[in-house]
Amino acid sequence: MASPAKAAPKAPAAKKTAAPAAKKPVAPAAKKAAAPAAANRSAATGSNPAVNVQPILNQQNHAPAPIQKYGTVTQRLPIGLEDNVRLGSVTMLNQMLADTITLRDMYKKHHWQVVGPTFYQLHLLYDKHYEEQAVLVDSIAERIQILGGVAVAMAADVAELSSIPRVPRDREEAPVQVSRLLDAHQRILKNCHDYAKKSDDAGDDGTNDLLVSELMRTNELQVWFISEHLVESPLTRAK
Ligand SMILES: [Fe+2]
Repeated sequence: MASPAKAAPKAPAAKKTAAPAAKKPVAPAAKKAAAPAAANRSAATGSNPAVNVQPILNQQNHAPAPIQKYGTVTQRLPIGLEDNVRLGSVTMLNQMLADTITLRDMYKKHHWQVVGPTFYQLHLLYDKHYEEQAVLVDSIAERIQILGGVAVAMAADVAELSSIPRVPRDREEAPVQVSRLLDAHQRILKNCHDYAKKSDDAGDDGTNDLLVSELMRTNELQVWFISEHLVESPLTRAK
């Protein structure tokens, strides 16, 4: 910090003495010598001492209180809904979110682990449904934030909250995979009907619309597409 302040006046002084004393051919040489000297000073002292470019790391280790606790509704956006209505919808939607994240991840697991003669079509179908469930996850979480709540997000919290039975780590046969998925879909759909009725009664039309138009319709369609894989049907000769 002290060296640039001391060094700064020296540079113009050197130029002043060099200019009148020296003839024309000498002046460029003096400039050449001055330029590296300035570069050396910049490298040694840094550019602008008022700006520290080092990120302030590890702030999580001494964080103050969180902005908002999970399970509360504190941000009141002007959307025409009372606090008790928002809190009721947020509670329902977090349950729906935990179950939908779980179903989404079941689809990816089964996409990787599927075996057998229907491998190709199930491999592709599972991934299509995974992508569609991922869209639903985002819609539910953002609805929770709009309502002033806090969306559940991390795997450990999702596992605690989800109503879908834990899926084993093991690789399972395709019909078992499909049966698990259908059970998860049905649990979600039963909650959809229940929550749609409650949100309608409470006057939360936006949540009701999300539940009916997006969640219910998408889950019903996916149930159809995977259910057909459990129907025994002759491939080449009708019985
Ligand atoms: Fe893949």
